[in-house]
Amino acid sequence: MSDCGCRKGNEQAENDKNGGNSYLPWPARIEAISEENSQIKTFVLAFSGDKRQQDYRYLPGQFLMVSVPHCGEAPISISSTPTRPGSVHLSVRRAGLLTNAMHGLAVGDTVGLRGPYGRPFPLETFRGKDLLFVAGGIGLAPLRSVINHALDSEHDGRIEILYGSRSPEDIAFKADIATWEATPKVSCRLTVDVASPGWEGEVGVVTRLLPQVDLDPKTSVALVCGPPLMIRFVMAELSRMGYSDERIITTMERHMKCGLGACGHCHMDDRLVCVDGPVFSLAELRGRDVVELRDKP
Ligand SMILES: Cc1cc2nc3c(=O)[nH]c(=O)nc-3n(C[C@H](O)[C@H](O)[C@H](O)COP(=O)(O)OP(=O)(O)OC[C@H]3O[C@@H](n4cnc5c(N)ncnc54)[C@H](O)[C@@H]3O)c2cc1C
Ligand code: FES
Repeated sequence: MSDCGCRKGNEQAENDKNGGNSYLPWPARIEAISEENSQIKTFVLAFSGDKRQQDYRYLPGQFLMVSVPHCGEAPISISSTPTRPGSVHLSVRRAGLLTNAMHGLAVGDTVGLRGPYGRPFPLETFRGKDLLFVAGGIGLAPLRSVINHALDSEHDGRIEILYGSRSPEDIAFKADIATWEATPKVSCRLTVDVASPGWEGEVGVVTRLLPQVDLDPKTSVALVCGPPLMIRFVMAELSRMGYSDERIITTMERHMKCGLGACGHCHMDDRLVCVDGPVFSLAELRGRDVVELRDKP
């Protein structure tokens, strides 16, 4: 780390310069769009240029800096899995300027992409373990990448998925959930904060589903992603259930500018979320307030 708090830490970014410039995005064409719910769309993107697309490599947990002309740039997790090459998926929730502009785009339009950036999930440590995924809302996007990667790689443990949404209409990734529910070694449990007529499933926050989990904390790993308060409560409950800090893994969101360790904007004490994260274990986060860390401007 330099005196100014900035750090060039992303080797992959150094090797991924567009015409020698780390900040120049690569154009990518929107091949398909699926509407997950009224606020979230999944964009299927392919880089312009067959070689770039063929050579493109990333891992679950990494993110891209996405840009639309005149609307700025934002970090978005890759929600597809590298085991299904040919395109990258970005699942985008409407939040402000850039994400609203993306929701106005159509198939055939182009966006700018830089990356992949960030430390991915430690997939190699998952071998032989059961996996528990706990997600809320758009938080299922980065976990979708790991879940589909695990299924494509014939993961040798069981997989339990807990997913919380505001209402039945807000449940995103329904097509994925239907596929997962039909997969023998996977179990999926859904809950909504507020039921609407016809909903016969669980009602309440996602932590309510944790007592139904049938996995041994000593032989499983928990991956958590969602709103900061949800992450905090889920992590606390997982600890009570006997998961060690090393076996509870989350992804952090911070305001980012460069995404590649150069500007210091995403710092978390002595660490930069864009290069040291966004994936962290609870062991690495202990003593830091996850909620306060995300919301600090
Ligand atoms: C590593 C990482 C991965 C992410 N993955 C996804 C994803 O897969 N899908 C998705 O929809 N969103 C994701 N986000 C959040 C996304 O980057 C923000 O919603 C986006 O920057 C908003 O940009 P905007 O121009 O649309 O909104 P702005 O007009 O810039 O902001 C709208 C509101 O969102 C807040 N905001 C902006 N950026 C962040 C941030 N990083 N953390 C918390 N609040 C923020 C602003 O303070 C403001 O209140 C991710 C963020 C990070 C850091
Ligand atoms: S150092 Fe620039 S966003 Fe992380």
